[in-house]
Amino acid sequence: MPSKRKYIVAGNWKMQGSRAQTQKWMSDFNDDLKSKLLTKPSNIDIFICPSYPYLDLVRHHLNALDIPIQLGAQDLSPYASGAYTGQVSGSMLADIGCSYVLVGHSERRQLCGESNDLVADKFFAAKRAGLTPILCVGETLAERQNNHTESLVSAQLNAILLREGVQAIQNAIIAYEPVWAIGTGKTATPQEAQEVHRFLRQWVAQQSESIADLLPIIYGGSVKASNTASLLEMPDIDGALVGGASLEAHEFLTICQSASSIR
Ligand code: PGA
Repeated sequence: MPSKRKYIVAGNWKMQGSRAQTQKWMSDFNDDLKSKLLTKPSNIDIFICPSYPYLDLVRHHLNALDIPIQLGAQDLSPYASGAYTGQVSGSMLADIGCSYVLVGHSERRQLCGESNDLVADKFFAAKRAGLTPILCVGETLAERQNNHTESLVSAQLNAILLREGVQAIQNAIIAYEPVWAIGTGKTATPQEAQEVHRFLRQWVAQQSESIADLLPIIYGGSVKASNTASLLEMPDIDGALVGGASLEAHEFLTICQSASSIR
């Protein structure tokens, strides 16, 4: 039976890029789209998350070239507005054309000390601003080796569910990103990823089967064109959050097309 869920392919550029690289990425992507070999993926949602200074420039290029990619941000403030030097609010992101925002990426949890509680604050700030939050969850290698994966990811998810109920996860996306697979070249096997995705969906289904059925759960961690299909063929993997491989336009488009050919 075909899935009710669309695939999602998201690019996380992290703290990389420049005006010149943005321009080159856009023109490379556009050239590939126009070439006879590559077609415009239409049955998947695609977005990219550049750093704050380039959001407007990326939006400008996407609009000018009519590229079917939406805009996302990598983080947001938990506050709506005010004296919070250096922070960027959800409404500012919406104002500049963002539709999506990552919350709780493991690099923010680990390097900036973000707790489950703060991540939940950001998740709800995103929703209040009309953005779709992508809640990133995932375990470290030591946590996996100690069999703590399920307790860890369920606690990360519970920070949202216990605060406002299962409805909170409607119109949101979960990204399962095992920390040991991020930027390491060590992708989780499709079976390892599927197991955690199924666990997350069942966790939500205990409270609402219909919300769980429609919830997109995407995988991140060393996704590249060569491993996209095997991951996305798994029944509970609804797309990919791509870091390093999204910096190269041709590779990213190939990932999108691989996704689009499956669902
Ligand atoms: P990676 O990053 O694809 O470079 O492993 C994924 C992520 O951090 O979202």
